[in-house]
Amino acid sequence: MLIERILHRLHNRVRTLEPHPAYQAWASTYDQRENNALLYAEERAFIPLLDSVNLRDKNVIDFGCGTGRHLSRCLGRNALSITGIDISREMLARALHKASTSERFMLLEASIDSLPFRDACFDVGIATLVLSHCARLEAPIAEMSRVLRHGATLLVSDWHPENDRRGWRRIFEVPSADGPGVRYSVQSYSHSLSEYRDQFLKCGFLVEDVHEPMIDESLEPIFKRTNMMHVYHQYHGSPVVAVFALRKT
Ligand SMILES: C[S@@+](CC[C@H](N)C(=O)[O-])C[C@H]1O[C@@H](n2cnc3c(N)ncnc32)[C@H](O)[C@@H]1O
Repeated sequence: MLIERILHRLHNRVRTLEPHPAYQAWASTYDQRENNALLYAEERAFIPLLDSVNLRDKNVIDFGCGTGRHLSRCLGRNALSITGIDISREMLARALHKASTSERFMLLEASIDSLPFRDACFDVGIATLVLSHCARLEAPIAEMSRVLRHGATLLVSDWHPENDRRGWRRIFEVPSADGPGVRYSVQSYSHSLSEYRDQFLKCGFLVEDVHEPMIDESLEPIFKRTNMMHVYHQYHGSPVVAVFALRKT
């Protein structure tokens, strides 16, 4: 029994990678998300907000766009320009494939805490599941504020701090040709919802709306498919994502 337990632990031990190497490695499978309950919950709250923003003739930016999961929803909506930034070249390479569009489209390798843009040049910003990879919120939120003009919309989603309290981690698997894949977790940091709010306010944002999508019946099929019904029952009714709709004042 002891040996079995040790083998089980060894099998489940995962190395934590910094965001840059982690997303370089995750890029090839990141878009396979049919069993990802967290992304499903996020999209349920985030997509209606994004769809309700008028992008016509607007300069739009996705901070930490990754493979363009939400950026691609901005295409074909008559924006003046669409820009995505990310630290991972591999994630950006995937986003590029989704970019057949008439809008001016640009992808750039850059970090959210040091943006290569002049002040107040974007009208709409989104930042999804990226801020919790930043050890501190001050610089990234100040930078987003700097490049957004007054009156701009900013939509943010993130991993809910409750997930950290439960000990959950962002784990992904790198497939291997000749055996089981290797599992890694991505370095991330827990920020309370009041830390987000305080920093948004300090950087000149008005918090217009907050959503905390939770584990509910809409996610049950995913937990069933992945044999995780014990988690579903244990955390039913608990929030998994935080979504903020903000206005730059
Ligand atoms: C969980 S993925 C989210 C990608 C995309 N926004 C989405 O919602 O599908 C996090 C992304 O943030 C990027 N990232 C992490 N730290 C960053 C930073 N300091 N600046 C810019 N991008 C960053 C990663 O490379 C990765 O593509």
